[in-house]
Amino acid sequence: MKFFLDTANLEQIQTAQLMGIIDGVTTNPSLMAKEGITGEDNIKTHYKKICEIVDGDVSAEVISTDFKGMIAEGEKLAALHKQIVVKIPVIADGIRAIKDLTSKGIRTNCTLIFNPGQALLAAKAGASYVSPFIGRLDDIGQDGMELIHQLVHILDTYGFETEIIAASIRNTNHILQCMEAGADVATCPLDAITGLLNHPLTDAGLEKFLADHRKLNG
Ligand code: G3P
Repeated sequence: MKFFLDTANLEQIQTAQLMGIIDGVTTNPSLMAKEGITGEDNIKTHYKKICEIVDGDVSAEVISTDFKGMIAEGEKLAALHKQIVVKIPVIADGIRAIKDLTSKGIRTNCTLIFNPGQALLAAKAGASYVSPFIGRLDDIGQDGMELIHQLVHILDTYGFETEIIAASIRNTNHILQCMEAGADVATCPLDAITGLLNHPLTDAGLEKFLADHRKLNG
């Protein structure tokens, strides 16, 4: 399973890249706003900086919600860097935009997926990725992980090449469950990924090794 970092924070992207644990980055307008990135030129520059740090795919989301606007924005974003994947919301114009961008060789990530039907339409239109949101389903009392299981089954059964990015991951347990479910990618906050390192026996074992070493070596 690949890991993408779900952030627009350059420091965190650099940290994860140096650890060798990420295969790409996903952003969205909220994550860009969180970093205080505003204005078309600054946003473009920021995407380029992300692409220069990380080796893999970088999802950049359109703001338009109409077909023409999404195509114009998507083409501009894709032209910024070969690693850019254009993130498009799963609405009717979005599905049409995915079809159009795909026919032009531009890769897409269909976002805000909350049910299998939405993912199926995005896959049929040629989306490179679909992004089901686990945490936001859990937030309203539904089972986000069940959606991941459903999508793995459906996309595998019908042989779609579309990859599943499990998104809206809130904790380490979500990541482990995504691995078991067979998601292609988990896009996560950095602390959820580094949380995979934590085990009390590791901490206790390390402390004992160092204490034993100190007894003889001072
Ligand atoms: O990038 C989309 C998604 O991961 C958002 O997560 O935590 O805002 O629901 P969250």
